[in-house]
Amino acid sequence: MKEKQIREPLVSHQNQIRYYLNGTEQNDTIPAGQSTLNYLNKTKHLYGTKCSCNEGDCGACTVVVAYPKEGSIVYEAINSCLYPAAKLHGRHLITVEGLGTPERLHPIQQAMLDFHGTQCGYCTPGFVMSMFALFASVEHPDKETIFQALEGNLCRCTGYQSILEAAHYISGRYTPRDLVPDWCREIEQLLFNFSEPARMILSGGGSNQQVQRYHTPEDTKSLFDLLQHEPDAVLIAGGTDLMVQMNIGRKEFPLLVDISRLNDLQRLYLQKDGLHIGACVSYATLLNSGIVNTDYPTLHKLILQIASQQIRNFGTLGGNIANASPIGDSLPLLMALDATLLLQTRLEIRLLPIREFFLGYRKTALQKGEIIREIVLPPIPEVTYVNTLKSAKRKSVDISSVITAICLEQELGFVKSATLALGGVAPTPVLSEVFSKLMCRKPLDSLNSKAIGKAVAAEFKPISDVRGSAIYRSRLIANHIQIYLNDLQRGE
Ligand SMILES: Cc1cc2nc3c(=O)[nH]c(=O)nc-3n(C[C@H](O)[C@H](O)[C@H](O)COP(=O)(O)OP(=O)(O)OC[C@H]3O[C@@H](n4cnc5c(N)ncnc54)[C@H](O)[C@@H]3O)c2cc1C
Ligand code: FES
Ligand code: FES
Repeated sequence: MKEKQIREPLVSHQNQIRYYLNGTEQNDTIPAGQSTLNYLNKTKHLYGTKCSCNEGDCGACTVVVAYPKEGSIVYEAINSCLYPAAKLHGRHLITVEGLGTPERLHPIQQAMLDFHGTQCGYCTPGFVMSMFALFASVEHPDKETIFQALEGNLCRCTGYQSILEAAHYISGRYTPRDLVPDWCREIEQLLFNFSEPARMILSGGGSNQQVQRYHTPEDTKSLFDLLQHEPDAVLIAGGTDLMVQMNIGRKEFPLLVDISRLNDLQRLYLQKDGLHIGACVSYATLLNSGIVNTDYPTLHKLILQIASQQIRNFGTLGGNIANASPIGDSLPLLMALDATLLLQTRLEIRLLPIREFFLGYRKTALQKGEIIREIVLPPIPEVTYVNTLKSAKRKSVDISSVITAICLEQELGFVKSATLALGGVAPTPVLSEVFSKLMCRKPLDSLNSKAIGKAVAAEFKPISDVRGSAIYRSRLIANHIQIYLNDLQRGE
């Protein structure tokens, strides 16, 4: 009989982390790639943080991470099932156990009780932690802001109305000063002063982990040295795509290299050639950016439709692009705006238009040892209509069936240039040639939106899958175009 082969290395690599948990310093050695949720349940024996989907969809595992960002301490809700515990190094992790005790509930917990916002209770810790992050950061948030903060939390008992009432009560009555406990404030200065590098150590015995090693280089030089010698290295930024592949797809990685804290990839600045967005700038940072809000409002609008607040807090634009999914939501807009990618290897930086980046299904122009360093959005000329439309089964936390983006320049009532980019209709995000041909140099008020929609829909042969049939997708293409052109003709 053939002997069963057990794939197990002789030594395992572990990460040493020093961080704060509910106000107390922790020094722990953790298996490479372990999720924060797994770590809390299995190592810390804290069971308040629940596991339901293990893929970022339900919010039951929501915890709050506090860390310094742009000169202040931010309190961000994250999905602990997707957040590698190694990322906790130098941060403050706040879980539901830290907020209150059964004898003395935190005001948010008390409000959930008073307004009957908890039934079976499984989702409750996640809702409480999402609210804590919101109310620690925003004073008296309005209805819309509360809704955005909670859209990544599902309650199967559908207690939403009571949960929202609890949130509105807290919003009207309390400020961050009342809600952030003193033990959180005491740790803030320690977080500012924290400078110890993350460490990886070898320990005896095998490991059955899906990740054999998890490295956090301190600067881009160390990153490129590592990539030069480690051909199997896989970059991890937020991890919101990769951790799903591990948790659900049981995918294994010999070496994950965490680039999320590299300063060079965190920069967001305006130059003559446009807005430079570091590949590891999170969606949340982009949403809070004044430049994005004023100069690129469509990007702001789009990001609000990507995933949930929890995912936006650590998911990145660079990850969305490198992941190269045909339904990656940022891709059509970046293509319509003619964004450029700054790609970097150990020896050089090259510029590549994003329109030339996607070579085939999940295949990109990135070469071995090359990373996305920045995304450059060119300035948008005045009298340009830019818009994007996402069609998905749910309004929040859902992947697109079809996503489109348009960039149209007009001059004296004529179309000067027109670009339409689409996702979900081909193996890669694509530009429509037919659209540009039918639109360019035509008087705006002569355009027949129905006929153009039909012609563009006929250009693509989308597939049928769980997110929609081919016919449905074709209709979406035509409908998106009608919406854009009707908007334009109404002068909106
Ligand atoms: C519940 C849920 C909802 C989601 N909703 C949406 C949605 O609405 N729309 C959408 O588009 N996506 C969605 N996503 C997918 C995901 O959140 C995004 O694609 C996100 O932008 C990925 O960024 P990340 O930093 O987490 O990527 P990671 O998981 O860290 O990396 C993704 C890939 O990119 C590579 N990579 C990362 N950074 C770089 C770099 N700088 N250079 C080269 N390679 C790099 C990694 O090696 C990996 O292959 C969702 C995911 C989840 C779990
Ligand atoms: S367990 Fe569902 S989001 Fe983490
Ligand atoms: S109270 Fe049961 S899932 Fe929300």
